[in-house]
Amino acid sequence: MSRVAVLKGGRSLERQVSLRSGARVEDALDRLGHDPVGIDVGADLVDRLRESRPDVAFVALHGRDGEDGTVQELLDTLAIPYTGSRVSACIRAADKVLAKHAMRDREVPTPEFFAFSETAFNELGAAQALPAIQERLGFPIVVKPASQGSALGIKFARTSASVPAALLAAFSYDRKVLLERHVDGRDLAVSIIADGASPRALPIVEAVPVQDEFYDFEARYEFGRTKFSCPAQLPEATAREAIRIALSVFELLGLAGFARVDLMFDDKRDELYALEADVVPGLTDTSLLPQAADAAGIGFDELVQRILDAAV
Ligand SMILES: Nc1ncnc2c1ncn2[C@@H]1O[C@H](COP(=O)(O)OP(=O)(O)O)[C@@H](O)[C@H]1O
Ligand SMILES: [Mg+2]
Repeated sequence: MSRVAVLKGGRSLERQVSLRSGARVEDALDRLGHDPVGIDVGADLVDRLRESRPDVAFVALHGRDGEDGTVQELLDTLAIPYTGSRVSACIRAADKVLAKHAMRDREVPTPEFFAFSETAFNELGAAQALPAIQERLGFPIVVKPASQGSALGIKFARTSASVPAALLAAFSYDRKVLLERHVDGRDLAVSIIADGASPRALPIVEAVPVQDEFYDFEARYEFGRTKFSCPAQLPEATAREAIRIALSVFELLGLAGFARVDLMFDDKRDELYALEADVVPGLTDTSLLPQAADAAGIGFDELVQRILDAAV
């Protein structure tokens, strides 16, 4: 039996999702005979951790602070073991620009992209480079903030007239944004658990939006807005390649414990691309990783125990 501090909530835009992930983890820990202490992460985090003296922390925070290494750094300082990836891997994965450069350097396919900081626009005239980028990427162009999750701040710009507004929207989430080539295809997610010798991929989940143009924030967390198929119906070679790509991303970013890698599959061209990796993927009842685990015969409680085992 362990005393487990379940870190949840926090200040991020994904606070509500995290509260749901955290509550579900606490219930599982209870059933497993552990002693969970739920902590809604805020200004008293260090005090709460010192008071509760946990054996281990289960990081169920999504987005800012929880996935970017901030909370992990604090846990390191307090010498409290924690679930999931270490600080440096969190920093790499949470920043889509860093992560995509790492993929490109290692020849892992990721959609072509150009990244800009706010200062490049304000002080270096980056706007003048937009026509060349549009020419290069074609339309629609996917505009996204470098760090965010749950499709927040992501826009598909369909014409050059809509690029400035899309950039402005993305800049309201982060000071760094990327313009990415649109992949016309299917939304795949490969969940990975690494509690043993080598990381293992779970069955692939395909998210099929029912009405929205892409798999956006609302579609993710409301019942009935998205259909999931797991294992995704894919040609065997495609499934194998998606898993190979996801495991390379896990390895090249230096991830640990568990993670989810999002990919796009252009079925007309038979091309796969990695979009990003989440170091604290959702653990709610509509989330992808728990569905994938379930399809592999790993129930939620066992999943939580395995994530915990990987931490200690
Ligand atoms: N280059 C792209 N081409 C097509 N769809 C994309 C692209 N990038 C993102 N999307 C859509 O937006 C969703 C979220 O994008 P992602 O890069 O995974 O960011 P987030 O961190 O918000 O999950 C994807 O699951 C996909 O549906
Ligand atoms: Mg994603």
